[in-house]
Amino acid sequence: MKILVCGGAGFIGSAFIRNHLKNIPNSKIINLDLLTTGSNLENIKDVKNNPNYQFIKDDIKNESKINSLVKDVDVVVNFAAESHVDRSIIDPKPFVETNIIGTYSILEAIRKHDKQFIHVSTDEIYGDAENKSSFNEDSKINPSNPYAATKAAADHLVASYYRTYGINCITTRCTNNFGPYQFPEKLIPKTIIRSIKNLKVSLYGNGSQIRSWIYVDDHVQAIDLLISKGRSGQIYNITAYEEITNKIIVEKILDILKKPHTLIEYVQDRPGHDKRYSINCSKIEHEIGWKKKYEFDKALQDTVNWYLKNQSWWEGYIN
Ligand SMILES: NC(=O)c1ccc[n+]([C@@H]2O[C@H](COP(=O)([O-])OP(=O)(O)OC[C@H]3O[C@@H](n4cnc5c(N)ncnc54)[C@H](O)[C@@H]3O)[C@@H](O)[C@H]2O)c1
Repeated sequence: MKILVCGGAGFIGSAFIRNHLKNIPNSKIINLDLLTTGSNLENIKDVKNNPNYQFIKDDIKNESKINSLVKDVDVVVNFAAESHVDRSIIDPKPFVETNIIGTYSILEAIRKHDKQFIHVSTDEIYGDAENKSSFNEDSKINPSNPYAATKAAADHLVASYYRTYGINCITTRCTNNFGPYQFPEKLIPKTIIRSIKNLKVSLYGNGSQIRSWIYVDDHVQAIDLLISKGRSGQIYNITAYEEITNKIIVEKILDILKKPHTLIEYVQDRPGHDKRYSINCSKIEHEIGWKKKYEFDKALQDTVNWYLKNQSWWEGYIN
């Protein structure tokens, strides 16, 4: 199998590449990434000399480049995105450009060459689950911030290309990921690194927002299963059902690092902040046979250990 991975120098895309080439060594992967915020070529250093791996620095919005690459692969998995909610609130434009126009560019090549497309979306498109039960794949799309809105727009585009042109596509909607190589702008790595350095760790509002967490390797293994077993035109939620408040996550990290809770600093809440994310993923469990493998507390401990051992990877990011 030959796969075009877009955004494979980021957090989840690089985990997908490392896992995939380990589990299916004769697969071939082309990784196209623009190397924007959140990317790091160190994330894929383990595979860079693998003869079945190739890196190309380019933009998913470059239609002619995407077209020429899609022609020669079997599958495209798109992780390339502007991915940080806070940055989308400050400046939504790059989010509109990459997350919507970039997805359009890939879809055009997919429909021309009749290849499989895995569109990696997010549970944030459902918006706030406060006081409601968990969302399933048929729940209403109700994004709260520009990041989520651009991802939701891309989901609609993919659905329309399936209905109108009959392309071969799958949309995944996963909950918050954590693990090694996550860019330090996100809650878990930022908290780990600032705690290691005895710096204040900020929490929005009173820290009672609930996020549902999954270890990144569970997410990418679900994507690999969907490539071979997923049904075209379908949406699959992916979650490990670990719903935890931001305050408890931060306290768990401080406890692992034996740091005082007084490092926590409460700051003004993010505008439009969702109180709770919650999805149900019985569809992928029953239809595809996927189940999470990693236990949350152990995976969090392993993640903290990885950041402790890999200070050179993050040293430049935090002052
Ligand atoms: N991190 C999470 O918790 C989470 C949860 C669910 C879904 N997702 C989705 O998974 C995908 C990957 O997320 P991540 O956390 O790994 O993000 P990330 O920011 O770590 O990686 C994104 C990658 O995309 C690349 N990129 C950005 N714009 C590009 C462009 N125009 N052309 C080519 N490459 C470009 C970046 O250089 C980076 O390497 C995103 O689509 C995100 O919406 C993330």
